[in-house]
Amino acid sequence: MQNNSSNLYLTTSTVTVVGLGKIGLPLAVQYAQHGRRVIGCDINPEVVETINAGQSHIQEEPELATEVFRLVESGMLSATVRTTDAVHNADVVIVIVPVVVDAQHKVNFDGIDAATMAIGAGLKPGTLVIYETTLPVGTTSGRFREILERSSNLQTGRDFSLAYSPERVSSGSIFRDLRIYPKVVGGIDEKSTSAAVAFYRSVLDAEIIIRASTDEAEFAKLIETTYRDVNIALANEYACFADAHGLDVAAAIKAANTQPYSHIHSPGVGVGGHCIPVYPYFLLAGVEKLDPFTLTPKFSMLTLPRSARRINDAMAEYAVQRIEATIGSLAHRSVLILGVAYRGDVHESAFTSTKLLQDALLEHGATVYVDDPLFSDDELFAPGYRPFVSERSDEICAIILQADHRVYQEFDFSRYTNCQLVLDGRRALRRERIESEGMHYIAIGDGFRENQDRGSDKQPVAASIFQNGGDR
Ligand SMILES: NC(=O)c1ccc[n+]([C@@H]2O[C@H](COP(=O)([O-])OP(=O)(O)OC[C@H]3O[C@@H](n4cnc5c(N)ncnc54)[C@H](O)[C@@H]3O)[C@@H](O)[C@H]2O)c1
Repeated sequence: MQNNSSNLYLTTSTVTVVGLGKIGLPLAVQYAQHGRRVIGCDINPEVVETINAGQSHIQEEPELATEVFRLVESGMLSATVRTTDAVHNADVVIVIVPVVVDAQHKVNFDGIDAATMAIGAGLKPGTLVIYETTLPVGTTSGRFREILERSSNLQTGRDFSLAYSPERVSSGSIFRDLRIYPKVVGGIDEKSTSAAVAFYRSVLDAEIIIRASTDEAEFAKLIETTYRDVNIALANEYACFADAHGLDVAAAIKAANTQPYSHIHSPGVGVGGHCIPVYPYFLLAGVEKLDPFTLTPKFSMLTLPRSARRINDAMAEYAVQRIEATIGSLAHRSVLILGVAYRGDVHESAFTSTKLLQDALLEHGATVYVDDPLFSDDELFAPGYRPFVSERSDEICAIILQADHRVYQEFDFSRYTNCQLVLDGRRALRRERIESEGMHYIAIGDGFRENQDRGSDKQPVAASIFQNGGDR
C-alpha cells in the first residue's frame, strides 16, 4: 500500500500534535523518540510553558519527567499555543483534543472544532492530518473534513490526506500500550490510508490494522469501549442475582471465565472515567441520525448499550440500599466515601461513581464526606464534595470504598469507632481485616446480607431496584 509520496512520513517529517494532555504529550514524546521533530500545540499557556521549560505536567507516566527534559534540550520537542503556525510547518498533524458529552449526554465538539479550524487555517498541500480522539461514527469524513476544507480552501484527497486512528492506550501504561496494542487505521481514500500507515510504521512497533474507511476505524473504537460497559452491566446484574440468592458472584465469575469464551468483567459500585461511561452515547448519537424507516416498532437498535448505561449508573443506589439493608436507614447519619478518582491510583475524576454515590446517599438523607489522598481539598470542594476532617471520625456510621487506591490497603479503619459497616465497592479489601474491627464487611454480589435474611418476607434489594430494567 505504500507509495513514494508516503515515504515522506517515514523519515523526514515534522509532526504537530494538537492537544498536549494525558495522551497528547506521551504521543509527542513517542514520535520525538523515533526521530521526528515534534511541535506540540495546546490552548493552555501553562502547559506550553511547562513543556518548553523541559518539564512534564502529566504525572501518570513516570518516563515523561526525564524524556520531556531530554527531548526539549535536544531540540526535538517544543510546544506552542499557535496551532495554525505549527501546522504550517508540519508534514503530519495528529489531533488528540477531547470530545465530551454534556449533562443530557449530548455530544459536544466545541474544543475539537476550534482545533480543527486552527489546523485548517495553517494547512498546506501535502500535509497528512490524523484524528486520534474517540469520535461518533462519520465525524472525520463529515464534520472535520468540511471544517478543514472550508478553513483551508484545500480539497481532501487531492490536496491533503485525512485519516482516523483511535487511541487505545490507558493512562498510566501508555508507552507499554503503544508497543503492544495494534494500531487501527482508516483513511478517507487509499492515499490517505497509505500515508497514515507509513507514518505509524515509522513511529510505533505495534501491528497496524488497516480498515476500509475512517468510519470503520471510528466504529471499531466505539465497539471495544461499549463492549466493556455492557459487559460490566451484565456482571452487575449477575451480582444482584447473587445477592438475591445468597451466592458469591466473584467466585462464580471466576469459575465461569475458565471457559475460554467467557470474559465476564467485575461488578462494582459503578463505572467512571471519560471513556467507558461516555462512548456508548457516541454510538447512540449514530442511531438518532438514522432514517426512521430503518427502525421499526419490532426492532429497536442499540437497546443493550442504552440499558447497560442505566444499570451501571443504578449501582450507586443499589449500594446504598445494600448498606441500609444491613445497618438500617442512613437518614441523619454520616457516610465516608474513599476515593473520588474514577479508578484506583489515577488523579482523574471524570464521571466518577463517587458523584452518583453521593447523590444516592443524599437522597437517603445521609451526610456525605469524601477522602482522596490524590486530590487537594480545593479539588474536592470545587465539584461539590465535602472533604473529610479527622475530627468527624466519630460521626461515621459507614464507609464505602469507591476507588481502590493502593494506599487504602493500609487505611486505618480503627479510627472510626462508631462505624458499623464497610462496603467494598471494588473487592479490594480483606474481609477479615474489617471484621476484626467489629464492622460488617459487604461487597456488591457477595450474597452475604440476603443469606442472613433468608426466610424473611423482605423483598431482596436487587429486585426492588431493577424491576424496571435498570431504570432508577
Ligand atoms: N485519557 C485516557 O485515558 C485516554 C485513553 C485513550 C484515548 N483517549 C482519547 O484522548 C483524548 C484526549 O484525552 P486526554 O486524556 O489527553 O485529555 P486531556 O484533558 O488530558 O488533554 C486535552 C488537552 O487538549 C487541550 N486542548 C483543548 N482544546 C484545544 C484546542 N482547541 N487546541 C489545542 N489544544 C486544546 C487541553 O488544554 C488539554 O491540555 C480523549 O478525548 C480520548 O478520545 C484518552
